[in-house]
Amino acid sequence: MSEPLRVALAGLGTVGGGVIRLLDANRELIARRAGREIEIVAVSARDRGKDRGVDLSRFVWVDDTTALAKQPGADVVVELIGGSDGPALTLARSTLGAGRSFVTANKAMIAHHGLELAQAAEGAGVALKFEAAVAGGIPVIKGLREGAAANEIARVYGILNGTCNFILSKMESEGRDFAEVLAEAQALGFAESDPSFDIDGVDAAHKLSILAAVAFGTQPAFDDVAISGIRRLLGADIAEAAALGYRVRLLGLAEAGTDGLFQRVHPHLVPIDHPLAHVTGSLNAVVAEGNFVGRLLFQGAGAGDGPTASAVVADLIDIARGEFGPPFAMPVVSLT
Ligand SMILES: NC(=O)c1ccc[n+]([C@@H]2O[C@H](COP(=O)([O-])OP(=O)(O)OC[C@H]3O[C@@H](n4cnc5c(N)ncnc54)[C@H](OP(=O)(O)O)[C@@H]3O)[C@@H](O)[C@H]2O)c1
Repeated sequence: MSEPLRVALAGLGTVGGGVIRLLDANRELIARRAGREIEIVAVSARDRGKDRGVDLSRFVWVDDTTALAKQPGADVVVELIGGSDGPALTLARSTLGAGRSFVTANKAMIAHHGLELAQAAEGAGVALKFEAAVAGGIPVIKGLREGAAANEIARVYGILNGTCNFILSKMESEGRDFAEVLAEAQALGFAESDPSFDIDGVDAAHKLSILAAVAFGTQPAFDDVAISGIRRLLGADIAEAAALGYRVRLLGLAEAGTDGLFQRVHPHLVPIDHPLAHVTGSLNAVVAEGNFVGRLLFQGAGAGDGPTASAVVADLIDIARGEFGPPFAMPVVSLT
């Protein structure tokens, strides 16, 4: 077997911890699939003393997270910190600038800076991968970038935010109002203490802009997404929709039109016989319509340590196999 792929890991929270656990649990299988071992060599987060439920003593600890870009012996940096700018972006720029591959789950950063980072990766001949940034564990970036690569895509849409779907499903099944269900979702850990990115549709818009770029061969354009969230929905709206044969879902939708690409996130009335009407709780689902393959439906867990780590490690396996290729499915120069 060849040399291991050596990983420097930034961020040891929900997803970072999940990546360590997954690599520990499936080490041999992953090595057989990847053709070599995937080995974490260095880690970094804010608080060195925090108990994370995993043994970190076998890794080099690095206090300055952004220094991981140049960690001796590392082939690839995995960023699981979050935030569109700040240390995540500094780390991304310096890793790619140092000619190393970069994997992230950070939708905000890819939505805002994906084009610049893709340019840097292509220039350096290294990989930039972000499967976990859209719909967590669902391999939808791979599905579009690889499996459906031969198709012209007419439309891609889906449930891209598990928090909103959890709230809407509860409002629907229990006939309750938004504020009450949000409070419960926060208590259960399904919603952040500041839930605005989720409930105002910003998180779904980050993901949609990435998905649209991959599906349509366009530059990611977060500012072009028309966004409206679920804050103002009443239990009565949902009951009325149900009486008419619909369910309410927060959808992100990107569609090719004669005037270019149309991208929007807002609550939609989904007919009861459509598969998305039956996606409940915190699940995500994405539909893509290709001109030869027809309608594809991807469904699964859009968040959580295990599912998100599954997507991050899939990207690492690609890199271990030498599968690089353009981050947005075609070279940056070809994106319109
Ligand atoms: N959670 C999910 O289900 C999920 C799903 C899809 C994508 N994502 C994305 O994955 C990324 C990580 O999410 P998460 O849920 O794992 O977050 P998290 O649990 O809050 O963990 C964030 C980690 O980053 C570290 N960190 C924060 N600020 C830092 C700084 N300035 N310098 C160095 N380290 C810093 C934290 O360190 P300390 O632990 O020391 O405080 C923590 O280990 C985000 O981009 C998120 O959008 C998450």
